[in-house]
Amino acid sequence: MPRKTNPSIERMKSGIPGLDKLIGGGFMKGSSILVTGSTGTGKTILCCQFIHEGLKNGERCMYITFEELPEEITADALVFGWDFEKYEKSGKLTLTFKDPFQATDITTRLENEIIQNNITRVIIDSTSLLGLYFKNPNDIRRELYKLINALKSSGATAILTAEVPKDNGISRFGVEEYVADGVLILRMTTIASSTSRTLEIIKMRRTKIEGGSHPFIIGPDGVSLKSS
Ligand SMILES: Nc1ncnc2c1ncn2[C@@H]1O[C@H](COP(=O)(O)OP(=O)(O)OP(=O)(O)O)[C@@H](O)[C@H]1O
Ligand SMILES: [Mg+2]
Repeated sequence: MPRKTNPSIERMKSGIPGLDKLIGGGFMKGSSILVTGSTGTGKTILCCQFIHEGLKNGERCMYITFEELPEEITADALVFGWDFEKYEKSGKLTLTFKDPFQATDITTRLENEIIQNNITRVIIDSTSLLGLYFKNPNDIRRELYKLINALKSSGATAILTAEVPKDNGISRFGVEEYVADGVLILRMTTIASSTSRTLEIIKMRRTKIEGGSHPFIIGPDGVSLKSS
């Protein structure tokens, strides 16, 4: 049973079948959500799905990738029938690769760009590579703190991903989970020849959440919760 939650808070549909009913109807509008998990758990697919949900409803979206090249993200999305190229051509989607070694100050300009272009959904995939650029952990933390706060004040709803080695805490740098409004962890367990995937909602500010591990699949339509 979906729980009662504050109805005055505007929600953004995640695009992930089965997720919204566990988080009060969707992500809080303007919130920044951290999605963490080890490699191959489905973070990028979930991000593409969230962006596609916005694009199909006519929203303007931005996908910043530090890891895969834009054409790889486009190819990843197309596997599920999400035609990012079409939306890039029509100006609804900005898909940008940022070289983590040249990421001087990623936060400057980003907030303005989001506001000026009326962008409602933003992805930063993934924050982990920033560790390559900033050698001092305090610099990384400061940069991530600034980045997440800039995203929050931009008014867009954002997902940031972090690749965290298996069973090794929630976030890579230990600041993201506190600054983010929400945290989701994706997990993957392989026993013999079968792989099972679960999603856990660690926090979602101002939202009553359904705790526990929620099994999900990656199927022809992307990520979907088994309970959906
Ligand atoms: N069409 C598909 N059908 C089923 N599963 C798929 C499909 N495409 C990809 N996958 C699964 O999704 C995984 C990749 O997901 P994704 O790229 O979102 O992971 P990730 O968490 O972003 O990993 P990384 O941290 O390395 O970027 C693949 O390893 C595969 O198991
Ligand atoms: Mg990825």
